[in-house]
Amino acid sequence: MSKPLSRLLRQEQFAFLARNHTDWSGHLQRVRAFLGEGLQAADPSRPVLILGAGAGLEVPWALAPPRTTGWDGDPWSRTWTALRHGCWPPWVFADLTGGLSDLEAMARRAVMEPWSGRRRDRETARKRLAGLLPSLQPDPEPLRAWIERHRPGTILAANVMGQFGVVAQRLVETRFGGPLGDPDAEGADPLVEAMEAWTGLAITAFLGALRDSGADLWLVHDRAVVFGAGPLDLGPWEQDWTRQLGGCSGLEAGDPLAGLDVPTLLGVETEALARKERWLWPVAPEQRHLVEALAFCRR
Ligand SMILES: C[S@@+](CC[C@H](N)C(=O)[O-])C[C@H]1O[C@@H](n2cnc3c(N)ncnc32)[C@H](O)[C@@H]1O
Repeated sequence: MSKPLSRLLRQEQFAFLARNHTDWSGHLQRVRAFLGEGLQAADPSRPVLILGAGAGLEVPWALAPPRTTGWDGDPWSRTWTALRHGCWPPWVFADLTGGLSDLEAMARRAVMEPWSGRRRDRETARKRLAGLLPSLQPDPEPLRAWIERHRPGTILAANVMGQFGVVAQRLVETRFGGPLGDPDAEGADPLVEAMEAWTGLAITAFLGALRDSGADLWLVHDRAVVFGAGPLDLGPWEQDWTRQLGGCSGLEAGDPLAGLDVPTLLGVETEALARKERWLWPVAPEQRHLVEALAFCRR
């Protein structure tokens, strides 16, 4: 994994842990209960894999079967987990999208003329990257290889999938030395659209690897990020999350999963899911996440 990526993930983790947790208890209770159920339902004779294991804030490691491996790109994640839970599980430190190094290299080439080392002006660099991005195809080959080798019976994805786009954007912004979006853009911004398309490909490939793994899947992710202070209600489950959110007029909702539907990409009917839940997580003032938890058991 490249230095800028591991540095970025380490910084993001610090920022995540440094946030005010006062209003997180409802979320932490639900996410730990859900992931804990997945760990307890796992066949203890087979390996278990926890993706986005992070600092273990959301993961009840005490319930993990003996052959459980954590996976997180943050180089400090296992240490944080050891300090929190008093265990030192096997760990993989690698990019789960398999595509962030290529993305970063492409952003570097867009910003800098490789022959002269001179920086291009921002608008030229933006246009170049927007034009080149569709040629990238993120491939979670390390994840597929690990699954092939260890044949896990259960895989948990602990709030990582919704981070793929955010991390990709921050990585590119680091190269650009500032925000990606064009503040003067009227209508669609080709670079923002190209980044969203890259995120969609990364999520699709990631879910493809999980689908093909044959493992039971316990997935938690941000389904939406809602900005604004107005009232927000959550109605009964609807396949389309936008219909489940009520009273959100005047609020702005972003979709970290690039408009994709997780059960569809897993090739699963919603009725076949062992669990499907959504709840609201007040992450920060005027920022609430709609969290989605889905369990798919093959037996
Ligand atoms: C919101 S945090 C999840 C917190 C974690 N579940 C816990 O219990 O502390 C997202 C985690 O995903 C990791 N992450 C984000 N993008 C990643 C990627 N492309 N590859 C590997 N890990 C990634 C981050 O390092 C971070 O630990």
